[in-house]
Amino acid sequence: MDADRISKLIDTARFGQNIEYLYEIDSTNEYAKLIANKSLDGTLVVADCQVSGKGRLGRNWNSPHDTGIFMSLIIKDNIKPDKAPMITIIAAMSVLKAVKEYIPETYIKWPNDIVVNGKKVCGILTEMKTINDATEYVIVGTGINVNTKDFPADIADKATSLMIETGKKIERGAIIAKVMDEFEYYYNEFIQTQNLALVMDDYNANLININNYVEIINSSTGNYTAKSLGIDKNGELLVQREKSDEVEKIISGEVSVRGVYGYV
Ligand code: BTN
Repeated sequence: MDADRISKLIDTARFGQNIEYLYEIDSTNEYAKLIANKSLDGTLVVADCQVSGKGRLGRNWNSPHDTGIFMSLIIKDNIKPDKAPMITIIAAMSVLKAVKEYIPETYIKWPNDIVVNGKKVCGILTEMKTINDATEYVIVGTGINVNTKDFPADIADKATSLMIETGKKIERGAIIAKVMDEFEYYYNEFIQTQNLALVMDDYNANLININNYVEIINSSTGNYTAKSLGIDKNGELLVQREKSDEVEKIISGEVSVRGVYGYV
């Protein structure tokens, strides 16, 4: 994997037109934040390895050499900060499309995990810088387990890779190119409409646990069980508690969701 090869494969007008390739870095999200001001909009930071890859909720992201895709997209648009979670949904949809080319049975776990065989193959961490309710930049950080052969013991039962699931080594650049292509398509529509109407049905059709009961984990109000009804056009998850007529909306960032019996 190198910048020239990735650039050759990317066929977009905006996202990934400029590639910053790094053999090794602490975290592509951290690096993207450092260079965002002086970088072109749409710049994609890609690293072969991250020595302190960051996951959500302060976790770390396993990122050794020669295994996965570790990339951060710099978007410089004036997006209202409350719309940023929608970008994460679009990013998840784009990765889903790319992974499905190799593994049709791939699903989304709300809001943005991509799941194969009950295990996670991708995670997304979106960060942004805002000034006076305007966004200076958004960083969409995506980690995809592509050619990972094994995982550290603490995540071995929850993580998988495309290679583990298909038995084949897959070119990372081809997946990066497909993700950029899909992301650009969905993003253009989102920026015009400011909603997720275009992706909503496709997202829900691939949502794991839709119409099943899930565990809603909310550290401030406590956990509860409710039926997942899918997202609305704002990306919120609609849920309904047993014996209740009320449909509640869950906003990502505030809570997480897991299957009643474990991760999915
Ligand atoms: C999660 O916890 O599910 C989110 C994981 C996000 C990992 C990616 S890898 C590229 C980018 N740089 C980081 O440090 N994190 C994100």
